[in-house]
Amino acid sequence: MTVDKKVISLIEEVAGLIDNAGFAVAFTGAGISVESGIPSFRGEDGIWNRYDPKILEYDFFRYHPEQCWPVIKEIFYTHFTGATPNAAHRFLARLEELQKLRCVITQNIDGLHQKAGSREVYCFHGDSSALRCLKCDRVFEVTPALLSLPLPVCPECRGVLKPDFVFFGEGIPSEAYQASFEAASNCDLMLVIGTTGEVYPAAMLPDEARKNGARIIEINPQRSQFSSTTAHVHLPLKAGEAAELIAGLLSITL
Ligand code: APR
Repeated sequence: MTVDKKVISLIEEVAGLIDNAGFAVAFTGAGISVESGIPSFRGEDGIWNRYDPKILEYDFFRYHPEQCWPVIKEIFYTHFTGATPNAAHRFLARLEELQKLRCVITQNIDGLHQKAGSREVYCFHGDSSALRCLKCDRVFEVTPALLSLPLPVCPECRGVLKPDFVFFGEGIPSEAYQASFEAASNCDLMLVIGTTGEVYPAAMLPDEARKNGARIIEINPQRSQFSSTTAHVHLPLKAGEAAELIAGLLSITL
């Protein structure tokens, strides 16, 4: 990979900011998992260019689960199975291990931060590992047997099962919401990685951090809602590439 001089000096600046931070947090979106083979939502190859987002609208799902489930399986369970963390996930896990990062706030439901070894992970949109019964509210771990049903139903009451991550029109899990906003208010550095910043309330977190005095570093090959007014530094690289370069400067092995 060839990196131009301007980007090299940005990488040096970012490495210095991470090294000197007292309370750094990461805020991640779909882009951090693209190099693990999971497509992002928006943009040319984005999921919402190929599928209708209404399959993730809570009310639509309640009334048409049989239409939604095949698509949900294809998007969220086929793509995720077998995906492994990339250098960016590993970098954040190593930073936490070295006590240079307090937590990861993620909008992703793919579980790759946890797989990489991150411990303090706030799943702002929940995660894809569980299913909840719409009738009796019991929660079940996702199993191949449940996913093999054309319409996954509750083994106890036969109610329809819904993936236990946040659909459009649903609230944010309160623990994750509180922990994320608390971290955003208290941090002095936020790494914003791979998110367009189009979905609220998650997109408020970087501004919350900046309002409270944090430096904001954005890592994203494209410009986003955060690039002009929220980020102090925009590193226009893929997350995994940026992670390897920054880790190299900080002598961190991934
Ligand atoms: N490294 C870093 N960023 C990348 C990479 C990469 N290799 N590839 C793409 N990106 C960037 C894109 O430029 C884009 O800005 O990742 C971003 C992905 O944006 P979205 O697809 O909008 O994903 P996200 O911001 O996480 O979406 C928020 O929308 O539908 C929902 O609930 C879903 O949590 C999701 C929310």
